[in-house]
Amino acid sequence: MISVTLNGETLEFDLDPDTPLLWVLRDHLGLTGTKYGCGEGECGACIVHLDDKPVNACITPLSEAAGRSVRTIEGLSPDGRHPLQLAWIMEEVPQCGYCQSGQLMTAAALLATHPRPTEAQIDASMSEVLCRCGSYSRIRRAILRASN
Ligand code: FES
Repeated sequence: MISVTLNGETLEFDLDPDTPLLWVLRDHLGLTGTKYGCGEGECGACIVHLDDKPVNACITPLSEAAGRSVRTIEGLSPDGRHPLQLAWIMEEVPQCGYCQSGQLMTAAALLATHPRPTEAQIDASMSEVLCRCGSYSRIRRAILRASN
């Protein structure tokens, strides 16, 4: 059995330890807010927090999460009103929306360590997540709004 604290709740998994965390979340738990993009750790659509740090869930085996804390977009805020989520709405960030949970989780990890990031720090952190719609300037504005 592999024990993981997920969004504050401790769960036990009887699964192959090599199962990618992304499939544990999506297929076994139905937490579909975390998206599958490339499956190779390149696009960032699958980013979740592992002990408060952003990781690509598609290339993180379940075994790496054993005894640790995972947070997904579903657990970012109990009521969907995290300052970043509110700023996302105010700045009308998403277009297709596919990458947005990865964007939000990456931004949340940035603000946890840099509550008032510079634009350069924002760009450096957010370069981990691709957006085919090109919503980068609105993402930057939303993060600056949430950090004020
Ligand atoms: Fe994980 Fe692209 S799906 S980085």
